Amino acid sequence: MLSDGREPSPVVGFVAYSCKCKYLMPTRLTMQLSGNGPARNRALPVVELASDQGTEQARPWPRIAVLGAGHSGPAIARAAVEAGYQVAIAASGDPERISLIAQVLVPGAEPRWAADAVADADVVILAIPIHKFAAFDPALVAGKLVVDVMNYWPPVDGVQAMFEDRQRGSSDIVQERLAESTVVKTLNHLGYHELDEQRRPEGSPERRALGVAGDDPEAVEVVAEIIERIGFDTVRLDSLRAGRLLDAGGAVFGASLRRAEFERAVRAEAA
Ligand SMILES: NC(=O)c1ccc[n+]([C@@H]2O[C@H](COP(=O)([O-])OP(=O)(O)OC[C@H]3O[C@@H](n4cnc5c(N)ncnc54)[C@H](OP(=O)(O)O)[C@@H]3O)[C@@H](O)[C@H]2O)c1
Repeated sequence: MLSDGREPSPVVGFVAYSCKCKYLMPTRLTMQLSGNGPARNRALPVVELASDQGTEQARPWPRIAVLGAGHSGPAIARAAVEAGYQVAIAASGDPERISLIAQVLVPGAEPRWAADAVADADVVILAIPIHKFAAFDPALVAGKLVVDVMNYWPPVDGVQAMFEDRQRGSSDIVQERLAESTVVKTLNHLGYHELDEQRRPEGSPERRALGVAGDDPEAVEVVAEIIERIGFDTVRLDSLRAGRLLDAGGAVFGASLRRAEFERAVRAEAA
């Protein structure tokens, strides 16, 4: 309130991003109307404008599409929403079918058709059963950074000829098929419930480490940042080939390890 009794006009703040990361959509200029008085504590409207100008700041947060609304998809989406990401979630069909799941399990995430969710996303999280992957259309995610959280587990998935080459990790094979996408492997080696139970703030002595593997360092960086913001330390592996160490049956699969322990475990297994 001003001394003459009037409410001050809203403050208009501009945050300009100049993003050089190839995995994030073109530069966005975010204008936030910061209300005063009674509006101060309400959610603030954000208007996004295309712009080529602006001072360089921190990288904008990627928009995330989660494909899969079973066990792991909603847990990942919830962690991302709670960390502050814009998240859409999709299953294999009409978003109406997952609207209750989204409302109850992932408030804040938007249920969408898969194609719409992917089109507006910078990062696509592939959380579908691997036995559905052969029927998954690679064109859907062409040009996108894809996070592969899938595991090949024959007792659950049945024998899938595509993934039977045990000399290769499953994400290597996923990358081969998604040739127009950049694949990063992570989140496959913890249980969906652990995503809620084991998230911790940075610096917490209990914070669990997760591996993040990929052939493209910039993509690994983008994904590692997401993992760290949702509440885990990261250990980066510099190839999808090395990502085999995260596969089911490996030393770190299902193991709740701090970063130093995780590094020791993967080093020992790689030796
Ligand atoms: N469960 C875990 O704790 C866990 C942990 C780490 C990793 N993972 C991995 O995550 C993946 C999913 O596991 P889950 O346990 O969450 O499976 P789930 O409970 O069976 O859920 C699978 C989901 O994928 C959706 N789906 C299938 N095909 C799709 C497509 N083409 N596009 C979009 N959505 C599609 C299904 O939707 P519809 O019903 O509409 O077909 C369903 O919502 C598996 O590869 C698993 O190995 C699981």
